Amino acid sequence: MRLGVNIDHVATIREARKIDFPDPVQAAVFAELAGAYGITVHLRQDRRHIKERDVELLNATLKTHLNVEISLNEEILKFIKSVKPGACCLVPEKVEEITTEGGLNIMKFIEPIKNVVRELKAEGIKTTIFIEPDGELIKRAPECEVDAIEINTGKYSDAKIEKEVEIELARLKNAAKLAKSLRLKVHAGHGLNYHNVKPVAEIPEIEELNIGHSIIGRAIFVGLERAVREMIELI
Ligand code: PXP
Repeated sequence: MRLGVNIDHVATIREARKIDFPDPVQAAVFAELAGAYGITVHLRQDRRHIKERDVELLNATLKTHLNVEISLNEEILKFIKSVKPGACCLVPEKVEEITTEGGLNIMKFIEPIKNVVRELKAEGIKTTIFIEPDGELIKRAPECEVDAIEINTGKYSDAKIEKEVEIELARLKNAAKLAKSLRLKVHAGHGLNYHNVKPVAEIPEIEELNIGHSIIGRAIFVGLERAVREMIELI
């Protein structure tokens, strides 16, 4: 199983002060050193965390693989085509959302998605669409001509009671099986953490997980004691 580490929230902390620290590019180097398969970032239309500068530097610096999540926004598409990261994952985006709320509505937007996919592929960029674990949607995914789908694990991650978790896990398993049978590569992500990731990582059709918030959140706790000790020593 490949791990793509989403480092958006290193940039969220930077943007809380609008300065140049902590730098997501430096964070990416540590994630690579720790064995990450690749780095994922979401270049949002409101640039609330990741900015063009980050994408450009990551693309120039990484020794592994850069996956950039983008919406169908024309200006962002133009920028991405100039940078040419290894991969792009198309996601829906609402300005007011706290995080990506669901998969793409490929029933409604199949033509615009297909056009963007073709433009990205023409630049040698691998393409993924973020999609709900829904059989009817997945059956239409090959029409988008994408290399892979990323199944949204958000509802599974949000599920609280055991029965609900089982239902959502079964949906993920069925979706992954169906996608593979349609010759699509299968990725998954959203909301995965240290408590819920194992059953998803055991789904044989899934090749890649993209995980961000829980890893960056945990990094604060596993690193906080040392950071405090170092400051005490200094003062
Ligand atoms: N996959 C997609 C398509 C996403 O939009 C996100 C969040 O940016 C993730 C994975 C990672 O989600 P999380 O930060 O909850 O691990």
